[in-house]
Amino acid sequence: MEKYYLVCEKCGARYSQSEAVYRCRCTGRLEVMINLDTVHASKNEVFGRKGNILDKYFEFLPLLQKPTRTLGEGFTPLINAPRLAEKVGLKNLYLKNETVNPTGSFKDRPIVVGANKALEFGAEVMASASSGNAATSLAAWCARYGIECVTFVPVDAPREKLAQLQMLGAKVYRVRARDEHKDPTAEMLQKCVEKYHWHAVPSFGTFNPYQIEGAKSLGYEIAEELRADHVVVPVGGAGLLLGTLKAYAEFHELGWIDDEPGIHAVQAEGCAPLVRAWKARREIEPWANPKTVAGGIADPYTWDGNAALKRMEKNGGTAVTVSDAQILEAQKLLARYAGIFAEPTGSASLAGIIALRDAGVIGHGETVACLVTGTGFKDINAVTRNAPEVPVIDVDADLVGKISYNPTI
Ligand SMILES: Cc1ncc(COP(=O)(O)O)c(C=O)c1O
Ligand SMILES: [Zn+2]
Repeated sequence: MEKYYLVCEKCGARYSQSEAVYRCRCTGRLEVMINLDTVHASKNEVFGRKGNILDKYFEFLPLLQKPTRTLGEGFTPLINAPRLAEKVGLKNLYLKNETVNPTGSFKDRPIVVGANKALEFGAEVMASASSGNAATSLAAWCARYGIECVTFVPVDAPREKLAQLQMLGAKVYRVRARDEHKDPTAEMLQKCVEKYHWHAVPSFGTFNPYQIEGAKSLGYEIAEELRADHVVVPVGGAGLLLGTLKAYAEFHELGWIDDEPGIHAVQAEGCAPLVRAWKARREIEPWANPKTVAGGIADPYTWDGNAALKRMEKNGGTAVTVSDAQILEAQKLLARYAGIFAEPTGSASLAGIIALRDAGVIGHGETVACLVTGTGFKDINAVTRNAPEVPVIDVDADLVGKISYNPTI
């Protein structure tokens, strides 16, 4: 029996694992289906494995060859945060600190799987379209393994992300938008993949269905450690949301966990195509002119959203929007009450948790997992543009008492 197969979302065509495909012949989005009957390891064996996420979850990934090449992704801490919990009116709040991944965001997880798969297919050049984080993950992996890397990012990508990409040696281009409903970086990726036969390794399934299976590792890790009632996920392209839903569904199907938590989606008010579709019970439609401080979730089209919505119906989770003010407040709370400096996108999960608590979806005594997906060092401007001047003083201990100090950002 094959370890996995692929199914087209649009026409239903099925592909074997022996076919090197990224998209369906009809151009539809493919979804990887892991044959759980081929998982012979026991729960205790898998949970007990150390090392790297590719070895640990090998049975659940669409990779056929070992050894796999990693940068040491995953195995991130799941931190109990009682001080923050009390501040936001909860009893049991856990923070999955994805900021400590090799390049500072959870995107290292999907990309390490996508890149290893592209290598199995013989890739010499790998390309990405991204708000910056997925591109950085790919650039780092390519630098480590000597593969050429080309990345397309938005014109307004933070300079920290650009610097990281340039330092890692990727060819990086900022792509101007020409249609308010379309992601120019994705359009450019598609054109170049067709023209130059590069391998597309972005973090949306439409262009690379394999990498989403790497996002599952985040859900597996939480499921292994915690019996959560709720997991709250920031949504851009929805690869993370879909991966989290798949991870819990697979462990549940195998009988490795008793039940699944409510898995909830969070988007920014200024870019919420998935939440809009969820509320109207419709398919996703592109969002015109995305506008949010959380650049990682400013995708005008939720690429993996329709697949995620189908699974959300079964899971029972919900979808909410949060304002930029709520995201920036959550960023501050994470720093001040839990000691984690996250980028605005990485703080959207906490903003969503507060909104869901206010709406009565999350109860005070329930156990909640918050996905802190990217480090604050990725977007310093989001913080410094509102920060007061840091006082400059002479070497005089009396001054510390005299200067009224207000660190509020
Ligand atoms: C830090 C961070 N969190 C969350 C997301 C959303 O992930 P997805 O695009 O899989 O929905 C992104 C996407 O770029 C991101 O960079
Ligand atoms: Zn098809």
